[in-house]
Formats: sequence, structure tokens, C-alpha cells
Amino acid sequence: MDDWYRTAVIYEVRVRSFADADSDGNGDFAGLTSRLDYLQSLGVTALWLLPFYPSPLRDDGYDIADYRSVHPDCGTLDDFQRFLEAAHARDLRVITELVLNHTSDQHPWFQRARHAQRGSPERDWYLWSDAADGLAGARVIFRDFERSNWSWDPVAEQFFFHRFYSSQPDLNYDHPAVREAILDVTDFWLQLGVDGLRLDAVPYLFKREGTTCESLPETHRFLRELRAHVDSRFAGRMLLAEANQCTEQTLAYFGAGDECHMAFNFPLMPRLYLALERECAEPITEVLAQLPDLPPGCQWATFLRNHDELSLEMVSDAERQELWRHWAPDPRARINLGIRRRLAPLLGGDRRRIELLNVLLLTLPGTPVLYYGDEIAMGDNLYLPDRHGVRTPMQWSGTRNAGFSACDPQSLALPVVVSPDYHYMGTNVEAQDRQPGSLLNWTRRFLAARKRHAALFGRGALRILPGGDPGVLAFLRLHDSRRVLVLANLAASSRLASVDTSAIVQPPGAASPVRLRDLLSGHELTLAGPTLQAILEPHAALVLLVAS
Ligand code: GLC
Repeated sequence: MDDWYRTAVIYEVRVRSFADADSDGNGDFAGLTSRLDYLQSLGVTALWLLPFYPSPLRDDGYDIADYRSVHPDCGTLDDFQRFLEAAHARDLRVITELVLNHTSDQHPWFQRARHAQRGSPERDWYLWSDAADGLAGARVIFRDFERSNWSWDPVAEQFFFHRFYSSQPDLNYDHPAVREAILDVTDFWLQLGVDGLRLDAVPYLFKREGTTCESLPETHRFLRELRAHVDSRFAGRMLLAEANQCTEQTLAYFGAGDECHMAFNFPLMPRLYLALERECAEPITEVLAQLPDLPPGCQWATFLRNHDELSLEMVSDAERQELWRHWAPDPRARINLGIRRRLAPLLGGDRRRIELLNVLLLTLPGTPVLYYGDEIAMGDNLYLPDRHGVRTPMQWSGTRNAGFSACDPQSLALPVVVSPDYHYMGTNVEAQDRQPGSLLNWTRRFLAARKRHAALFGRGALRILPGGDPGVLAFLRLHDSRRVLVLANLAASSRLASVDTSAIVQPPGAASPVRLRDLLSGHELTLAGPTLQAILEPHAALVLLVAS
């Protein structure tokens, strides 16, 4: 089984924001291709590309008007293929978006449907109704922008259903031709050589009256069909579920190993922030205890931030209020049921907390997904609408447009960050390249060290250990004879970590003295007794490899 994704490090990149080769103010594939050296030097092994298809861009390209082509802003299909070849030549895998729940209202399928006869097969590619009161159990997700999941179409003279913006009508998965068409789109990109597909908004495909219209059995049945279809035609490809659901329902996207290979760890993500805020490991240990071993070949995609708001949809109301109060006191930072901030400003620019969360991202079970720009602690722009504030151009240097584009600064699709604390003059790749202690170089060193133990971190089991202090998260990762002990101080004050070493020394009592080497600092220590004790400074972490 080619399960490359289990030992991967994924880098999420918005093509439009990464590098602009033709100076039109938009990033493009030629630009991205020219920056592959950088991505390789960073140490990531796979790139996940945000939507780059023709689109009216009402939802940043998640409103697709043509599934088989490239938006002219980003280049051509030939440019994409050149990029894919160049990435593969460097052993970088490429994951693209399969937006399968909805299309843009500009897609020819919707245009055909709205003009077609009521009840005709063409009309039925989408969901229509004479009243806007059906499927009332389906929650409104973009609640700051939409009041209902139904909108009136004056051409069809009916309401149509949409889970997201009213410019994104939902496809009707009960229609065999729709399912067939989406399988064809899947084949199109996999035939080109794409290694993985992120299944956008996958819980909402099938709708049934009287339900929440989320994670229905029919949706899982289709995913098994999709998986079987992919497996029968292509080798070594990966399906990644974007299913922002409660723990049990998120797990369902792995099926019995016959649905998605990967799913984002939405249950874990907000609890990392809860633990940091409460200075207490329990929110993390509690959720990890609920996550069972995954079916063979499956893997979590672990993440701290992405191109969307930091979703607080799946925490309790009280926890959401607590997280909002703590991490988003500025109301402009709140959107829908989440927080629209990048990692660095979210954490108040605190380098120790940024590193601490990255240590957890890179050592907890799962494949880490890094969001572009977070490796240089890029800032955001709360004055931009929707989630665009976390999608601004990559900051390469202190020159014009942060080195992203040679265009007239006024023609940039999104402005570069110029707030004093995160200005591109100071926060950029070129400057951080030169500073050995920069976050960029810290990330490079960590990724390089992690790569040497990729199997341990990617495939290893997890054992939570009592850390001796409520603020200390202690866990062991184990794979074959290899072990790594992670100690993380979630508190803003120094704490004494205290760990029973019988879990580390295998078999208990054997082969002492045991030597431990910190992956981050290279320091070595020797276990002297039955208990390992270490004073951890505020927000400090140790990643201790056990010498075999
Ligand atoms: C996913 C995407 C988000 C998009 C939504 C609708 O949640 O991550 O950016 O707005 O789907 O397509």
C-alpha cells in the first residue's frame, strides 16, 4: 500500500497569494513553480492547493464555474501541468480541491437547470422548491451572511437550496447523472497526475427531510463508491475529508478503511487553543482519549489554522464564548462561528506560544498541515471582508509588494500586510533566511529532524502519560522499537514535569541508564531514576528521543 500521506508534511497554499509571475496582481502557477525551491528547503513534502478553477470568486473560488480548467488569473492548464511535473520532480505531492457539494450559479449545469422545464432531468441537477421551508433541519453555516438555505431564482421561478452562499447552489446527489459527472471530474484531475483530493464540505451531499442533512448514510454510501472508483483506476491516490463534525461523525469518514484515507482533525483543533487558554492539558488529553485507532491506511490531518475562520462550530456554547473572549476580544476578528485570524496575531505574536503549538502540530498523531505564511509568523488584515484577511500575499522580501508581485501596488488583488507589528518590511522570508533564530529557520530545523523519524511521528501509536502538573501535557509516541517522549508546558509560568519512566524504559527496568536527546535543542540527558523530572519554562516543550 502506497500510504505516502501518512508520513507527509502538507503545506496549504493559495496559488493566488503565493507568487505572481506575470505581474497582474494575482499569484499564478508560473509563480508557484518558481518558488518550489523554497518549499523544498522548508521541508514540506506535499502541497494542498486552494481552488484555482474558473469562478466568479464569490467564495474565493469554492464557487466553481468550470471543473476542468484553470482560472486565467492563475494561468493555463498547461501551466498547471508544468507545475505538477516540477513538483513531482522534487518528490513533492500535490493535493487539489474537489468541491463536490455545490457549484457556482454561473456553472453551465446551473444555467441549464434554471432554464429547463420543472421536473425535467436537467432541472433536477439541483434542489428546487416552491416554498422556502423544506429541509428545515439543515443549519445555516454562513450565518453572518445568509438567513436561509433557500434563495429565489427569478429565472426558474422556484427556490433553490444552498448550504453556503446563495451563489453556490447545492448539487442534487439523488440524481445519478450528478454522481456520474462528479466521478468524471475526479478522473480528470487524477489522470493529470494529482496525488490527492480534498473533499470540500463533504458532510452535506445528501439531504433528507427531518434530518440535519449532515453525514447521512447516503453520503457515506456515495463516498464508498467514490473510493472504490478511485482505487480501481489509480494507484496511490488519497482522499481527504473536510468534515467539520463532532468526533463520532468525523470518524465515520474513514468508514472501515473504505471511505476517505484522511480527515481533518476538527475535534482536536479548537481544544489546542482551549488548553493553551486554560493553561491545562486536560482539553487535549480528553479529546485524544476519545479518538480510537484508525482503520489500516487511514490518517488524521492535523492543523492549527487554515484559509477559513478558526471554526468553533463543534465546541459547546460556553466553550465558544470562552474561546471568543480570550482569543478574539476584537469583534472584527469574529465571523460566523469562528475567528478569522492567522496563527501569529491570534497568539499575540508570542513566539513561545507559536512554537509550542507547532511542536504539538508536529508531534501529535496525524499528518501536519501548515498554512502558508505561518512559518514566518505572517500577520492578517481584519479590515478585509469575509476570510480574506488571512489570505493576503506571501511576504518574500522587504521590497515592493513584499516581493510577491512586480505589479502596481494598487492592482494587487489583495493588499500586502502593512500594519506596524507584521509589516512585510520586517516579516518576510528574505529577512528570516538570514537569521538563524528566526521562526522560519526553527521550522526548517524541526521539519528536517522530524523527517529523520517520519515513521515514528507518522505511524507511531500514542500513549498519554500523567505529566505531574495539570499544565504539562506528556505523551509518548511509539513505533517498532523507537520512542519519543513529548513534554509540553501549556502554562504561562514555569512548571515541574514529572513522568514515570517505566513507560519509557522497555522492558521496565532494563537497559538503564537510558539516554534521551531533545530533538529541538540537541541536548542529551540521562535518566537517573524511576521518575523523570524537568522544569519547563513558560510554554516550553521537550521532544525527547529515547536512544535505543
Ligand atoms: C469549505 C471551504 C471554505 C468554503 C466552503 C464552501 O468549508 O474550506 O473556504 O467557503 O467550503 O465551499
